[in-house]
Amino acid sequence: MDFKLKIENLEKRFGDKVILSGVDLEVDSGTITAIIGKSGTGKSVLLKLMAGILEKENGKISVEYGSENSAQDQKPKAGNLQEIGLSYMFQNNALFDSLSAFDNIALPLVESNSSISASVINQKVKALLKQLDLETVGASYPGDLSGGMNKRIAFARALITEPKIILFDEPTTGLDPERKHTVFDMIQFYKKQFGFTAFLVSHDIPEVYSIVDSIAWLDEGEIKYFGTVDSIDSISDPAIKHYLKTGRLSV
Ligand SMILES: Nc1ncnc2c1ncn2[C@@H]1O[C@H](COP(=O)(O)OP(=O)(O)OP(=O)(O)O)[C@@H](O)[C@H]1O
Ligand SMILES: [Mg+2]
Repeated sequence: MDFKLKIENLEKRFGDKVILSGVDLEVDSGTITAIIGKSGTGKSVLLKLMAGILEKENGKISVEYGSENSAQDQKPKAGNLQEIGLSYMFQNNALFDSLSAFDNIALPLVESNSSISASVINQKVKALLKQLDLETVGASYPGDLSGGMNKRIAFARALITEPKIILFDEPTTGLDPERKHTVFDMIQFYKKQFGFTAFLVSHDIPEVYSIVDSIAWLDEGEIKYFGTVDSIDSISDPAIKHYLKTGRLSV
């Protein structure tokens, strides 16, 4: 099902400190959007608002989907991101050390209020482990696995509920350059296979550009640039162009 994910005039502050002063963003389903910007600009806050972990002050975050036969007179239906299905992959993986990889992956299903039986959960986790080539580590604990492997477990946990939207907060931080590429490739590969819509906060510029459809640059509380990698070339301000191309503020 195709949909549009819309963020309109989103505002967030903590006390008197304004973090987001009016974020507007609209993306199509099935795309990957990189969210870039300096440290402390509110990228994680934006993801947490989308995930419903933080409360917004103002604005709207919604999905709009049309009916199958998009007749002119039928207005698109709107819903929230949780209804359509969303997973959030935390920057530090947030795996439970006391649970095996298998049980970590099963957790979102176990915790969901649905009446899904233990044997169905087992089958689903087994199938996903197989699909992600993780069968051999199901019984291992996060403390015994490498950083790269734990990222894959965290990714599996994000996928187990078959979400339509996945939010990745710096999924490559702390990994060596080769593993960074592996994680980006993995996101791209499974996006094709599972068909989710992704937002990916990253400081890895330009590496992250190889897998994204669009870039959203968050600065001073607003999205100052939204577009494709190629269209960065047509930005007239040389400093902004340089920053978006390289991730560095000055030459
Ligand atoms: N729960 C909170 N209470 C108060 N202030 C917060 C809270 N969460 C975030 N902030 C503040 O909001 C601002 C944006 O934080 P955020 O974590 O979104 O930045 P970021 O863009 O993700 O940075 P980084 O690239 O370093 O991860 C920061 O000034 C941060 O201190
Ligand atoms: Mg952050």
